[in-house]
Amino acid sequence: MSDDRTPIVAPDADNISAAALRLREGGLVAFPTETVYGLGADATNDEAVAAVFQAKDRPRFNPLIVHVGDLGEARAAVSFNPAAETLAEAFWPGALTMVLPRLDDRIALLVSAGLDTVAVRVPNHPVAQALLAEAGVPVAAPSANKAGCISPTAAGHVVFSLPGPGKGGPDMILDGGPCHVGVESTVIDLSGSSPVLLRPGGVAAEDIEAVVGPLASPGKNVATQGGAQKSPGMQERHYAPNLPLRLEAEEPKPGEGFLAFGPGAPGGTEEAMNLSPTGDLEEAAANLFAMMRALDGPPFEAIAVMPVPDRGLGRAINDRLRRGVGPADG
Ligand code: TXA
Ligand code: MG
Repeated sequence: MSDDRTPIVAPDADNISAAALRLREGGLVAFPTETVYGLGADATNDEAVAAVFQAKDRPRFNPLIVHVGDLGEARAAVSFNPAAETLAEAFWPGALTMVLPRLDDRIALLVSAGLDTVAVRVPNHPVAQALLAEAGVPVAAPSANKAGCISPTAAGHVVFSLPGPGKGGPDMILDGGPCHVGVESTVIDLSGSSPVLLRPGGVAAEDIEAVVGPLASPGKNVATQGGAQKSPGMQERHYAPNLPLRLEAEEPKPGEGFLAFGPGAPGGTEEAMNLSPTGDLEEAAANLFAMMRALDGPPFEAIAVMPVPDRGLGRAINDRLRRGVGPADG
């Protein structure tokens, strides 16, 4: 273990260049923001995003925040409305994340767990700003800690919470000192008819309300927003397929689209898709939402899914699949 700790490096120009290069190559880098340290990956690279979930050992795919350098880049990623413009002007760069309809097709579906919305934020930290500018890609970053643990507010916390580079963790941690906000950003959903507070955080809800008026809290009303999207989670909307899902299927029945996994998939099935012909769970995670969408409609009447091993990212895949089967608002 001790020889595979992620190095903590000073955020000088050379290290920021190296970190930006690793991001563009599909690697993971931990970096400071004013709220907490983030575990960053190129948001346009499904496999890099899958590696983030793997490194955090997340049992579920929660949608991640996409970090961009400025308002112009945010406008290219998501569709702004007047309330979002007003909030961006008031609080960006800063500890405010806005959920808006996805515009940029390059952003990986896994980033937003298959949703038609993307959460965006312009962080207010010089190291995060320098990294985003040099990387030249939007950066998906959850807090840089193991799932279920406390968010890191100093570089040293990250080392103890995530595996080293040889075990799927970040290649380096840019040290920006302690985070001065110290709690995660406030998340506001602006994709529906009125703003909804999804997560309290670094910008006070009262300050946001002073700018855009009352915020709704996520509740029963969330499920009805966004048309077909359902709300199996407490505060998060999730992509739920329109067609019924049948799990643990060894082969498709007539009328079913088939989502296979691994080398043992039955051959010759027309229109079958394979999450990973080699049985690689990271590859399967990277393909999951795009393949579900591809099978989610005519000519199919249902989607049959082969068993996926319940370990590593397989747990998150199975969690997602079970939610897709379950009641719409369960
Ligand atoms: O301060 C922060 O926000 C930190 C730093 C690194 O920026 N990041 C962070 O990310 O806390 P994460 O992945 O731990 O939290 C993302 C939050 C979750 O509550 C998630 O449900 C919500 O944002 N979220 C992301 N995309 C969403 C979407 N499309 N719809 C609804 N909620 C979304
Ligand atoms: Mg977190």
